[in-house]
Amino acid sequence: MTTQQPPAWSLDDAQTMYAMDVWGDGFFSINDKGNVCVKPIEGMDISVDINDVIAEALAEGSTLPLILRFQDIISSRVKRLNRKFREAIEGAGYEGVYRSIFPIKVNQLQEVVAEVIEAGREFDIGVECGSKAELMAALPMIGSDTLMLCNGVKDHVMLTMMLNAQQLGQQVIPIIEKYSEFEQLMILADQRELKPRLGVRVKLNTRGAGRWYESGGARSKFGLTVPELVRLVKILEKRGQGDCLELLHFHLGSQISDIQVLRSAVKEITQIYADLVLRGVSVKFLDVGGGLGVNYGGDYDNPESSINYGLREYANVVVYAVKEICDERGVPVPTLLSESGRALTAHHSMLVVPVLGVHRPDSPPMHDETPPDSPSVVSRMETAYEEARSTDVTGILLECYHDAREAREEADQLMRLGYMTLDQLAHTDSLYWSTCREVLQKLAAAQLTPPPTEQLELEEQLTDLYLCDFSVFHSIIDHWAIQQVFPVMPLHRLQERPDRRAQVVDLTCDSDGKIDQYVHGHSNTSWLPLHSHKHGDAYHIGIFLVGAYQEILGDAHNLLGRVDEVHVYAKEDETGNFWIEETLKGICIKDMLSQVQYFPNDLDRRMSELIRKQINAGVVKAAEGTRILNNYTKRLDESTYCTTEVVR
Ligand SMILES: Cc1ncc(COP(=O)(O)O)c(C=O)c1O
Repeated sequence: MTTQQPPAWSLDDAQTMYAMDVWGDGFFSINDKGNVCVKPIEGMDISVDINDVIAEALAEGSTLPLILRFQDIISSRVKRLNRKFREAIEGAGYEGVYRSIFPIKVNQLQEVVAEVIEAGREFDIGVECGSKAELMAALPMIGSDTLMLCNGVKDHVMLTMMLNAQQLGQQVIPIIEKYSEFEQLMILADQRELKPRLGVRVKLNTRGAGRWYESGGARSKFGLTVPELVRLVKILEKRGQGDCLELLHFHLGSQISDIQVLRSAVKEITQIYADLVLRGVSVKFLDVGGGLGVNYGGDYDNPESSINYGLREYANVVVYAVKEICDERGVPVPTLLSESGRALTAHHSMLVVPVLGVHRPDSPPMHDETPPDSPSVVSRMETAYEEARSTDVTGILLECYHDAREAREEADQLMRLGYMTLDQLAHTDSLYWSTCREVLQKLAAAQLTPPPTEQLELEEQLTDLYLCDFSVFHSIIDHWAIQQVFPVMPLHRLQERPDRRAQVVDLTCDSDGKIDQYVHGHSNTSWLPLHSHKHGDAYHIGIFLVGAYQEILGDAHNLLGRVDEVHVYAKEDETGNFWIEETLKGICIKDMLSQVQYFPNDLDRRMSELIRKQINAGVVKAAEGTRILNNYTKRLDESTYCTTEVVR
């Protein structure tokens, strides 16, 4: 028998195992202590140990699970995107400017929108809203210079608010998505004797690439067809208001995976722009919509998780394609806009979830004597195990596994028929799992490509379930809904080689409440290497890149609701290189319950009646009943999530 020593383990190996170089975008790495750390400020070497932030947040009264918001990352991403466009504009000799527009649907939290606007002030950043509530949230937040675009379906109430904003001198531009919106807008403008400013979303023939490709193309839900656009232009021209049409827009869908598709759409819209300018309609803005993707890591062939370009290439494609066509057609270049939200916010927030316990599906070895009077199937199982221990030959290992599998099925049948005792079954089951572990370890060490199906089967069977304090539906809804892959990894102990194959499962009893796709090296796997966990010890797992869409889409599944969060800024002269600007408590049980019409007063009254009845009936003593009631009432103010404390 040969015993193979695992190769030495380094922090670089951990970095590679969890593909941090792919998704970390230079922000996340591992420090000498084996802890995940973040360098959130562009161009500065200030490193913050995420475990220090967690410790301080807990000391200040926050509870896990916890959202950590690295506000500096928002600022870094805003600056990075705008600088890439400035570089492209300079390199191309483009005689115009770029302004990024933040679509607030990606993360409407006030503190996120405020941070984006603040960081983007020097670049004249604007905002985009797509619904009545977003419009009402954004209107008071923008100054008179901030460009605000209004996409989405608009009723006359919204159109009126937009015209009112224009009257107030705000730079609010409704983007016509349906022809009837244009008709309504003109009626409202005429009633007020106003000349409205407007933009048009055009249905291009180019379709997107990636999960949201149906948002673009001729059959997309929104936008005007080219004949509708021409009709609109003719009406404006007839009214002598050609200059009202200030903006042309397209949107191919979020997370465009292939840059060629963007190039083709930019060319298509620029031709339309040039035609309009040549006929005297002085469109000022060309808005290439959302779609700038984020590399979530993992499988490069999977368009949902990876993209084939970076910020620099994205900016170059837009700038050079527009310039080339404008030069050819002899028209001035427009101001360029993009509605990038995912790319600005995804990186800044992460979820910290504690492991509450581990379920190992396999039985541990029992090292017992063979129980007396065992049927022959028991000795067949013992033989399979011994052979698996004494060989490294793939064919023999597979044979051992087949034999063990068959013996287990037989043992199961014998048990049902009453021919096997509990001791004999326990012995056989324990040997079965020992054989499986032995076979899998040796098959994995052989690094066969492709791995035999038995290996994949064993990997699945021998994967531990790490029960974590969170809800997939609340915190990473896209993982459940569209199989979006998010980077997941332990936040500490990375100087140790992870020795367990694991799947992270959440608190909900749903079978869908689990993470079953992981970024693992250069591929995606259904399991993640994690460290052995002892019940009661702190083991924290990070789920990264959750800053775009997730917090907003999450529902109140299982009444778990919003988690605690802290807003962290990096600063060199603070202990640990960071300071916590704000700590926000997540939703407590009573507020969550009120949302579904269970009101605390009523609950309290019912509970106290129930307890009084039991006291009167002599089921509990009065003092004990009061203690139970107080405990119930107190818990209503606490977090909806589990506590990580264990009673010792
Ligand atoms: C019109 C419009 N603009 C911008 C966005 C945001 O795009 P992204 O996910 O690339 O930030 C969306 C979302 O799909 C959208 O519908």
